[in-house]
Amino acid sequence: MFRRSTVVIAFIACTGFATSKFLQPTPYDRDTAVSSILIALGDEAPEHYIGTMDMEKVGMGKDIINLGGAYENGGATNRVSEHFVCIDCHNIQPEAPFADDNNPDSRLKYSIENNQPYLPGSTFYGITNRTSWFNGDHERKYGKELIEPARHDLVNAIQLCSKECSVGRMLTQEEMQAVLHYLTSMELKLKDLNLSEAELASISANGQTAEQKAQNIRLIKSKYLQGYPATFVEEIPKKERKMGEEGNLDNGKWIYEKSCLHCHSPQKTVTDRTLFGTGKDQKDFKWLASYFKKSNGGSVYWITRHGTASKEHIPQYMPIYSKEKLSDSQIEDLAAYILAESKK
Ligand code: HEC
Ligand code: HEC
Repeated sequence: MFRRSTVVIAFIACTGFATSKFLQPTPYDRDTAVSSILIALGDEAPEHYIGTMDMEKVGMGKDIINLGGAYENGGATNRVSEHFVCIDCHNIQPEAPFADDNNPDSRLKYSIENNQPYLPGSTFYGITNRTSWFNGDHERKYGKELIEPARHDLVNAIQLCSKECSVGRMLTQEEMQAVLHYLTSMELKLKDLNLSEAELASISANGQTAEQKAQNIRLIKSKYLQGYPATFVEEIPKKERKMGEEGNLDNGKWIYEKSCLHCHSPQKTVTDRTLFGTGKDQKDFKWLASYFKKSNGGSVYWITRHGTASKEHIPQYMPIYSKEKLSDSQIEDLAAYILAESKK
């Protein structure tokens, strides 16, 4: 007996982080869905909740989000948009080590460490756990009438972005179900919450009173963003711009390649009509650097804060980067990289 328990303890010690938080007997593991814990504690399931995942629907949702439509006969059929796919603007992976972190510096660091795009939209990972969407200043772009129904209803938020942000059409009921199944496959797991051992023990404890359950529900919800804030800011005033003279070149390179070139690249249809995007072409860097002092569409300082509007003859547009998705100092990093490359 003695021997066996030593072996068990040694095993737990060796597997480190993965199990260190689970020394007490708990019904949960790292991959337990946060939504199922909340529901077990008595929280009400949201309207978009999907209890049992249907893998066929997950697959169809995956095609819609990643390829633009259900995939049949070697191609995406009946595309949601002729101009964009959802992953032009949204990641499908976590964007921070823990789900309560929305700092642009740690988001960029995480993107570099995990080799992920760095995009103007919020990640779809954990989106079914949120309780509000299109927060902050998005109302300024889309208007109250469109935003209000979407702010507390995920289905409406998806429809808004399918039609407006993607310059496409709304999803059919079948497509919506598929997309909800796929998004549920990337819901938050216990490992995404930065919980102390004591907090984990409290959440997992047997025989909790109603009061303790309510407290644990609040505790869990405090560990992830209920909605992503979005603040639109004006471009850095000309007099305050560093014009590429100061900034972190590695960050700037990453932003250029994993954010700007995510759309502005010759392989992408999104940028059919844009003026730069051959990637490493020095012409592009010289052209971009020549506009640093301007406040118009050529200037990286200006365009990141204003984006472009979708027009009849140019339906593809550039989204506004909120300050949460690209900070002023990250724009200076980008400018520093562009200037350095323009001189090579
Ligand atoms: C051209 C860029 C673009 C495309 C394409 C796009 N989106 Fe978005 N989407 C945005 C931006 C910008 C926001 C607002 C910022 C944010 O995500 O928090 C947004 C927000 C959302 C939100 C609310 C997110 C939240 O947490 O507040 C949902 C849901 C959404 N999009 C779904 C979709 C779906 C589904 C598609 C594909 C059919 C899609 N989007 C395509 C740019 C885009
Ligand atoms: C979601 C896709 C997308 C992303 C990401 C994006 N752009 Fe754009 N951008 C566009 C589109 C589409 C246009 C063209 C709009 C038009 O012609 O009206 C554009 C236009 C521009 C223009 C105006 C000149 C031109 O090429 O037409 C500049 C400059 C620019 N973008 C810079 C950037 C920079 C810098 C970044 C990265 C911080 C970036 N863009 C990220 C889609 C994107």
